[in-house]
Amino acid sequence: MTDIERTRPARLVVLISGRGRNLEAIMRAIDAGELDAEIVLVASNKPNARGLQTARLAGLPTVAISPREFADRESYDAALARRIAADNPDWVVLAGFMRVLSDSFVERFAGRIVNIHPSLLPKYKGLHTHDRALDAGDRDHGASVHFVTPTLDDGPVIRQGRITIRDGDTADTLADRIMDRIEQRLYAAALDDLISGRVVWRDDGVYRDGQRQSTPLIVDYDEDAPSP
Ligand code: GRF
Repeated sequence: MTDIERTRPARLVVLISGRGRNLEAIMRAIDAGELDAEIVLVASNKPNARGLQTARLAGLPTVAISPREFADRESYDAALARRIAADNPDWVVLAGFMRVLSDSFVERFAGRIVNIHPSLLPKYKGLHTHDRALDAGDRDHGASVHFVTPTLDDGPVIRQGRITIRDGDTADTLADRIMDRIEQRLYAAALDDLISGRVVWRDDGVYRDGQRQSTPLIVDYDEDAPSP
């Protein structure tokens, strides 16, 4: 589904709602030459999203489309999809985009939408992932980059990053550590998997280096783990 022949940098449209730290990490990876991609649009449902300002300062094209201007989810998503399609993206990258996308949006960019979620999927889809990992007494926790399907946080995982939960961790310390240790690197690595063609989503599953993956790649990102 995602075999894409390319002779140019991959075109990314990045969707954000908030601070945009994942967006910044992707921008840094591109600037460092680690990701053969260009960000052709940063779009947000929140006109005041801090990440929009970061993007503008970096000279990236931005657009804010507020749901308030639309009667319902379908019409909002149709407008967002039209705007995104105008930039002809190879990948639609959800980076802290806090809206559930309608089936028609997902189908329009089928196989080309990816998301980062702060848990080791399939655990803890949805919100409050850090609290839920702590409440369950989990020993580890992390983040996942996955393909987006119409069901929330349910699509096949591309790669995951994991850290060990420490005594005394709170939802806030976990969120910070997952952002600092994992998310600052995970999205760029997963996008590189896709852009390089190392990872491909076919009808019968996700392939990495030609091998069908029964479990996703998990990399440890603890301070004392070897540098990933
Ligand atoms: C991240 O924790 C991401 O995993 C989640 O939303 C947060 C976005 O943060 N989906 P930022 O906007 O990238 O700073």
